[in-house]
Amino acid sequence: MKFKRAGNVGCYWRNGQFLIRNHRTRANIIADPIAARILDLFTDWADPQEAAKDAGLDPKSVDDAAAALHDAGVLLGQEDDTEDAPDERLRARWDPWAPEGAAFHFATRNDAFADASDELKDELAAGGRPALFKTYPDADRLFLPRSSTRLDAPLERVLHARRTHRAFSNRAIAREHLATLLSTTFGPKDFIAADQFGTLMLRTSPSGGARHELEAYVAVFDAEDVDPGIYHYSVRDHCLELIASGDYRPRLADLCGGQQGVEQAGAVVVLTAVIERLTSKYRHPRAYRVMLMNAGHLAQTFVLTATALGLGPFQTAAFHDEGVESLLGIDGIAEPALYVLTVGVPATDDQGRVTYLHGPTTLESAGITRFDATDRHG
Ligand SMILES: Cc1cc2nc3c(=O)[nH]c(=O)nc-3n(C[C@H](O)[C@H](O)[C@H](O)COP(=O)(O)O)c2cc1C
Repeated sequence: MKFKRAGNVGCYWRNGQFLIRNHRTRANIIADPIAARILDLFTDWADPQEAAKDAGLDPKSVDDAAAALHDAGVLLGQEDDTEDAPDERLRARWDPWAPEGAAFHFATRNDAFADASDELKDELAAGGRPALFKTYPDADRLFLPRSSTRLDAPLERVLHARRTHRAFSNRAIAREHLATLLSTTFGPKDFIAADQFGTLMLRTSPSGGARHELEAYVAVFDAEDVDPGIYHYSVRDHCLELIASGDYRPRLADLCGGQQGVEQAGAVVVLTAVIERLTSKYRHPRAYRVMLMNAGHLAQTFVLTATALGLGPFQTAAFHDEGVESLLGIDGIAEPALYVLTVGVPATDDQGRVTYLHGPTTLESAGITRFDATDRHG
């Protein structure tokens, strides 16, 4: 029988053992690393005996290895060669994201929900709990007003008014608006007693396990009575902790690929994650998904709050991670940067209307649009 390597196979070491894994099916086998050499013979359909001969390897060993790798699900047998075989569909639809994106997605599917184990609870109770807050005790601190601007715009109006703004006026963000935006999005709303996990914070956004691993760093470009610079927002003390003073507009715009919406903004907020707050409880890779979801929740609260304050938000995932992390003074390992949000006073035209990059739809744009999925793959 002919064999071919499955579409999304990864080889790596785990706990000192060489592991070959079909990420799509999550089938895996611990093998001698020489098995990677055998897998390499089966990029296209190949007969083990012939492939062995071509490669100058012992046919019997290759035959045996191929059978074992087929049993383990990392080599496909010819009976799997149908046009709509899952591997073919994966190749067709996920190819632009392969192998890393597809590997992560499929490798973390179907993980069973598991409550924290007794060992984990004991470990946490014995002092393994990460700190709830991050602070920079030696930094210069700028305390922000507690008196919050009322957020009493009707929810329906805020939801429909929210747009991504890439053009801003040259008016500074009011200090009270900046304070309200930060405290509403990132500040603690309440605290709960969570048994062995201790006291946990609640925010206006949900967070997996209330771990609230996300921190906010603020690059102030143009805000009333706040000197330009890079700050950490202290969630505990509702203050800005100075990391570096100065005008970082061109640097941040450059780190975001020169995108319109960064340099013109009044402030840029970078969401970062203190990884240990999640890994101390969630010890499986699927929790990485939770972290990104959490970032999305906080970002949506940020943009809706900004909208309710009459400010214009913008968000981007397109930034140079290492450059942004080094600017914030974080290592990108214990605490990586995840998301860049900007905010400013929206630009208006000479009639006072807010301007957007894209106008309403036209007959021309409708004419080049495929509105319905009519082919059988949708
Ligand atoms: C995760 C995420 C990443 C985004 N990245 C960018 C970006 O890199 N550049 C950009 O101009 N807009 C970016 N946007 C904004 C989207 O283009 C925008 O939300 C979309 O065009 C819909 O427009 P609206 O937000 O005004 O409704 C991003 C939005 C999200 C949610």
